[in-house]
Amino acid sequence: MNPNVRPETMQRITTLELANAFIDEQVALVREQVGDKKVLLALSGGVDSSVVAALLIKAIGKQLVCVHVNHGLMRKGESEQVIEVFGKALDANLIYIDATDRFLDKLAGVDAPEKKRKIIGNEFIEVFNEEASKLEGISFLAQGTIYPDILESDGVKAHHNVGGLPEDMKFELVEPVKLLYKDEVRVVGEALGLPHGMVYRQPFPGPGLGVRCLGAITRDRLHALREADAILREEFDLNGLAGKVWQYFIAVPDMKSVGVRDGKRYEGWPAIIRAVNTTDAMTATIEEIPYALLHHITDRITHEVEGINRVLLDLTPKPIGTIEWE
Ligand code: XMP
Repeated sequence: MNPNVRPETMQRITTLELANAFIDEQVALVREQVGDKKVLLALSGGVDSSVVAALLIKAIGKQLVCVHVNHGLMRKGESEQVIEVFGKALDANLIYIDATDRFLDKLAGVDAPEKKRKIIGNEFIEVFNEEASKLEGISFLAQGTIYPDILESDGVKAHHNVGGLPEDMKFELVEPVKLLYKDEVRVVGEALGLPHGMVYRQPFPGPGLGVRCLGAITRDRLHALREADAILREEFDLNGLAGKVWQYFIAVPDMKSVGVRDGKRYEGWPAIIRAVNTTDAMTATIEEIPYALLHHITDRITHEVEGINRVLLDLTPKPIGTIEWE
């Protein structure tokens, strides 16, 4: 039997009971595989790696070493949530690395999208490798591989993953959710007690805000993007759109226009709202957002975010526009 093929008899995990049965089964399997050895996990805070972390903490506790690399391109509050949930609430063996300066220094002045992606991917591997080589006695590498990753391994996602992990790492893999679909991973995550917002968070590119801070990234524009994005997310949450819209975010281009603030000329960047619905991210439609809410969001962003003086709405479906701006 090929361990990478989901058996036809495997029931879709849709309920807490089924999730708990899956968890019990995986806990036993992981304990059997790992014994008393140590396991390393790159914990991004995304759904898949978070669920794997919670599952492995349940199975082997402190034998799991989680490494969270903050590349400085996370959304507001994300790294803090990883520390809160895993470092504190679940008392995990968590190594937190703030590599913001390393990433942003390398990215300074680079405006070509593919080059930016490459730098972020390579730097991630480098930072992770450096950390891994400081640790002793690691025998296994855990990964949040899910079934669509296996099915599409020659497709879109491979290019999407943040550089993947170092290929020369000679670790045996632990991949407890590799036969699950995304919706099942979420049910398992909830059964493991992870916060709803973590388990149901929207897709977020590995290179993070790096693909939304268009052109060459600067710290001030990245900061403005992060703050504007946080306001958009907060307002979608408060107004019942968070569960309805598949993906929504702000992109900030590298251009300024003239505005007026406090009676003075105020040059600033535009914040572009992108809110789309899709089932597979191959095509996407535009979600209608009530105008009153758009006005409110515009008011908040232009008043609360330093450097932003206009808010624009992207009405372009995919195709022809991709979901991200890059
Ligand atoms: P595009 O822009 O190609 O995006 O229409 C399709 C979906 O893929 C997401 N995306 C990524 N996901 N790593 C990921 O895991 C990445 O590097 C990456 N880049 C884009 C994008 O957010 C959208 O949901």
